This record gives sequence, C-alpha cells and structure tokens, in this order.
Amino acid sequence: MCGIFAYLNYRVPRTRKEIFETLVKGLQRLEYRGYDSAGVAVDGPNSNERNSSICLVKKRGKVKALDEELYKQDSMDLEAELDTHFGIAHTRWATHGVPSAVNSHPHRSDKNNEFVVIHNGIITNYKELKKYLQIKGYEFESETDTEVIPKLIKYVFDNWESEYVSFSSLVERVIQQLEGAFALVFKSIHYPGEAIATRRGSPLLIGVRSKFDLSTEEIPITYNNSNFKNENNENDANRKQRLNSLTCLYSVGDLKAVEYYFASDASAIIEHTNKVIYLEDDDIAAVAEGKLSIHRMNRLAGDDSSRAIQTLQMEMQQIMKGNFKAFMQKEIFEQPESVVNTMRGRVCFENNTVILGGLKDHLKEIKRCRRLIVIGCGTSFHAAVATRQILEELTELPVMVELASDFLDRNTPVFRDDVCFFISQSGETADTLMALRYCKDRGALTVGVTNTVGSSICRETSCGIHINAGPEIGVASTKAYTSQFVAFVMFGLMMSEDRISLQKRRLEIISSLQALPGQIKAVLALDSKIKELADELYKQRSLLVMGRGFNYATCLEGALKIKEITYMHSEGILAGELKHGPLALIDKHMPVIMIIVRDACYTKCQNALQQVIARQGCPIIICSEDDPESMKNAYKTIEIPHTVDCLQGILSVIPLQLMSFHLAVLRGYDVDCPRNLAKSVTVE
Ligand code: AGP
Repeated sequence: MCGIFAYLNYRVPRTRKEIFETLVKGLQRLEYRGYDSAGVAVDGPNSNERNSSICLVKKRGKVKALDEELYKQDSMDLEAELDTHFGIAHTRWATHGVPSAVNSHPHRSDKNNEFVVIHNGIITNYKELKKYLQIKGYEFESETDTEVIPKLIKYVFDNWESEYVSFSSLVERVIQQLEGAFALVFKSIHYPGEAIATRRGSPLLIGVRSKFDLSTEEIPITYNNSNFKNENNENDANRKQRLNSLTCLYSVGDLKAVEYYFASDASAIIEHTNKVIYLEDDDIAAVAEGKLSIHRMNRLAGDDSSRAIQTLQMEMQQIMKGNFKAFMQKEIFEQPESVVNTMRGRVCFENNTVILGGLKDHLKEIKRCRRLIVIGCGTSFHAAVATRQILEELTELPVMVELASDFLDRNTPVFRDDVCFFISQSGETADTLMALRYCKDRGALTVGVTNTVGSSICRETSCGIHINAGPEIGVASTKAYTSQFVAFVMFGLMMSEDRISLQKRRLEIISSLQALPGQIKAVLALDSKIKELADELYKQRSLLVMGRGFNYATCLEGALKIKEITYMHSEGILAGELKHGPLALIDKHMPVIMIIVRDACYTKCQNALQQVIARQGCPIIICSEDDPESMKNAYKTIEIPHTVDCLQGILSVIPLQLMSFHLAVLRGYDVDCPRNLAKSVTVE
C-alpha cells in the first residue's frame, strides 16, 4: 500500500542530482507497494541553515514519470552540493481520492510548505479533524485522509504555548490525535536538516550508514519529553545543549558524518546499508544535528526498552530482476531454492525429524488445544486451504480456515484453548493483523507464519514460523505460496512425530519433501509448452480452473493469479460442485483447465471430465507424467511429476503461475504492477 522513502545526509556532501537519484531509486524499489502517483520534497534552491524553503514535485503515474519531472525543475541547480540535506519521497496506492498530483504525497501544511509529510496507512478520524481545522481557517487542497496531518502539525506549531518547541514534541502532539494506522515521515522549513519518523500499525525502518561499527549498538528509548526539558523559550545555546544530551546512537564517539534512510521496507535500504532499526508502534525517531534518538509515547514506568541495530540478511541480488522479464517470473523460477530455504535446518532427512524452532516451546500447549484456526487473505488463505486436509490428518485436530475479513465480520467465537495461526507473506496485512488482535484479546495462543522478519504479525504473535522464501516483490504472490504450503506440512509433521499410527505416512511425506526441489525444476522445464498454450488462450475473456481434494486450493490460487495480472475473468471451481451450477457455463467456447492427478479423487475428477466433454468442452488437463498415453493423446495436457497426494498442490500450481505470467505478457500488461492492486494491503 504506498511506499515511504526518505534520505538524510549529514555532513556527507551530495549534489542535488545525487539526492534525486537516491530518492527515485528508493521509490523504484518500493514501487510494488503502490504505483499510481509519486512525489518528493527536497530543500528549495536557496535554502541554508537560517533561511530554508521546501520544493515539492508530484506526478500522477509511475515513479518513472516523477523521475522525468524532477529534471524539468529549472530553478534547481542539479550540480549544487548540499553538505546536509533531508529529502522525502513517496509512491502511492490510492485509497482516498483518485490518483492525481494533488492527491499524491508529500502533503503540505500550507502554500509555503512549512511542514510536509509522507504517509502510509489510513487515518480513520480524518473527517472530524478536517472539519475542526477548516473551522480554524485551514484550507485543504486534496481529497486524501493524509492532508489533515500537515495541517494539524502547523496548527499545533502556530498555537504552541511557548516560543520554542522541538519538532519531535510537535509530532508527538499530532499523533496523539490520530486514529487508524500510519507510518509517517515529516520535514519542515522550521527544522532544517532534521527528520522525524513515527509509526503505528504500518511498517517503518531506518537504515544507518556511517564509518562507525554499528554491529553492537542499541538505542535506548526515552520517554516523552524527558530529554526535552527547557524547551520553553529555548535559545540556540540551550538547543545545542539539549541536542548533545539526547540519548542517541552517537552519544559516544566523534560524529563526523552519517546518512539515514527511512523506508517502508528493507528492499529500499539494502543497497545503502545493512544496518537497520525497526521502529515499533508509537516510537518517535528524531534526527537532529546528525544524531538519532528514539522516544516513545505512553511508555510505562520501568520500561527501559531499546531498539537494537540489526543486520539485514538480505542480499542485493534478491531484489534485482536479473535476466528475468519481471519479478514475478524470477520468483516463480526461484521456487526450487525457496522451498529448500523453508525446510533448511528444520527437516532432517537422515533421521526423518522435523523441528520448527519457533514453535517447539509451545508444542505441548498446541497439542492440548481444542482446534486450530488458520486465518489469512488472498494467496495466504489459499495456502491454508491447500494444507487443511493434511493438517487435520497429522494433528488429529479440527482445523478451521478463515478469510480474515469474514472472520472479523462474523465476530467468530474464539476461546482460550484455541490456537490461531496468522498466515501472511508481508506480515502487515491489515485484516489479518486485526484478526490477530481479536484472537489475542480472547486469550488464544497466536502463531505467525510470515515471510517478513520484524513485521507486525511476527512481533505481535506469541510464536511462529518464518517461511524464509526470500523477498517477494511481484504483487502476484508465487514463491511465498509454495513456502507457506511447505511450512504447514512441516508443522503437521512436527505435531505427529510421536504418533505410531502415522509413521508410515510421515516417512512418505518427508521423503517426498526431499524430492520436491527436483520435481519443481521438472515442472519449470514445461515453461515453453505452457507458453504455447497461453498463445492459444490469451485472447479469451474467461478461464475456468477445476479440481478437487488436495488440488482444490490450486484452482482457487491459479484463478486468482490469472485474474489479478491478466484481468481475464477466472474462477476456481470445486469439481464436486460442477453439476450444482458451474456446468451451465460449459460449451465449446469456454476455456477450461482441469487438474486430474492420481490421488483419492481421481475417479471423481474423471467423472467431472466426462461431464465437461459431454457439453462439448475441450479442457486442458494438468495430469501426472505416468498417466496412460490414451489420456495424453485425447487432450491437451500439462504433465507434472507425481508426488504424495498432500504435496501435489505445490507441483500443480506452478503451471498456473506460469500460465498467468504468459497470458499477462501476451495481453500487454505490466506483470509486476497490476492495476488497482498493491503488494501489501495495510488498510482494512
Ligand atoms: C496474491 O497474489 C495477492 N496479491 C494477495 O491476494 C495477497 O496474497 C494478500 O493480499 C495477502 O497478503 P499477505 O500474504 O501479505 O498477507
């Protein structure tokens, strides 16, 4: 949902051109989070310590359009070197107000751009705030919820009881009034070279680059204004003293030069530094005179927490497209390795054991529970559907799978002896996060299954599994799905370790997991055949995907992939439901893909096939390599390797991932940036 990127160089001379390049590159890395408009705020042409101005450049469309616009700014000397500078940038996914330059961020307090802000999230009480500010004479120019924030900070600034107020205190006062979710970065002409970042419910991290060794640093958190005494009527000397007394990263050492990068996620920071600090809800991070301090609203007495500087494990090549046409394509082809990374250090193929370190201390409690509830959205929900049957079999517990939004709408009863799993690639999806808080309030044990270390779901659950699929940038989720799938199978295996009656089944699954990467490679080798089938299908308006049992989730997931990036109508249909309605859609013109593999549903799927053929349908069949020649000769087929029934869905989904990719390319669409969508949906 929207990407935030900001860059502060303190005593590190950078030309304006270099600053633009850094900001634009940061936005490009985050473009998958939103791409309908973009903007930056930088110091104006004649800014200096005493006299500063802010220049805003905003543009509808992708970051590329903004990049071109930046170089049309005649008043800006691109070669001018700025010793210290703070620039903020944003790429938007519209929620309130159409995509347009005026609705895009940064938003401003007034025509002089005294305060500018970038925002990710949603302000739910913006109407009340807007009304109040309008009565006070503030004029609004956009349709967004965000615009109340810069107006409000100016209002607080204009009405502050004393002559001096710190930037951080202003922001603190502002966020006390905000309801909803936000990550915010502020810049102001009144505080040149200073930056404020804060969050509640939306992710935000700060990268630090300096010549110091930051590996063991911790930033103590201070409380409210405790470090901001004497701020009333503060003169320059007081201000200097105050800044020196801040609890800060560089309270020791000779601070000469430092750069800070603020971003919604690590992919925008990794090329500059691997040292990062993840902000927590209600943290207010301030950089002034090159020093970073973090203080916290509403800290309880005795809470002496700190924020550690962490080292990112991410590699640059993980966030580069390499030779692939799109991130989605790259991520599809990464699956032989990503499933291995999910299993690494957890499945021991020598002695057939599975240990999920993040759950082992809670295993007894989980085994005693009344039921498992798995909650997610979109593809993550499908991964839960895909593994429900094997989880029921291996855990011998009832398993409910729930779409987070529906689960909340129903006020679903949850009890202390329930164990609730929250499955999310990003770990930030608002509906899933809300469901997590709902279950927590009811005393259930909460387990996160995410791909993003440090995400809100990771931090707020009692325990969890990192799926370790590596960064997923394509909006259409692919490798996260197969890794989520494997993660749940591993959980089932861990739960059933001591069940004698299940040992044979467990061994079959574990040896199939070992063979999985090679089999995924074999499916990927079918790419050109799938492209040929896509050549025949890409002009169609609709595509049905049918299957049942362990492969039903593949139908849902395949149809989701097709609709989200090709804009074709596509439906995943449970083959058992065919005669209860969908059969009416079938005729010789309706494109159909059926999944018919050798498992317990084989005969029933064959029956469905006959029903389709009897209505002159001519389906493409995803079948097993070892199926009889008669089947392969009679239909167009995609032949995939055979594996144990509960893992077959991993192999059957890949042809549909590839199919959707080729269809989207043939239809001329941007695979990684499908219209109206964004990677991480942080609004309800
Ligand atoms: C899948 O291709 C989607 N773009 C979408 O359905 C996604 O899976 C959903 O929004 C949930 O995201 P999460 O896994 O990050 O929670």
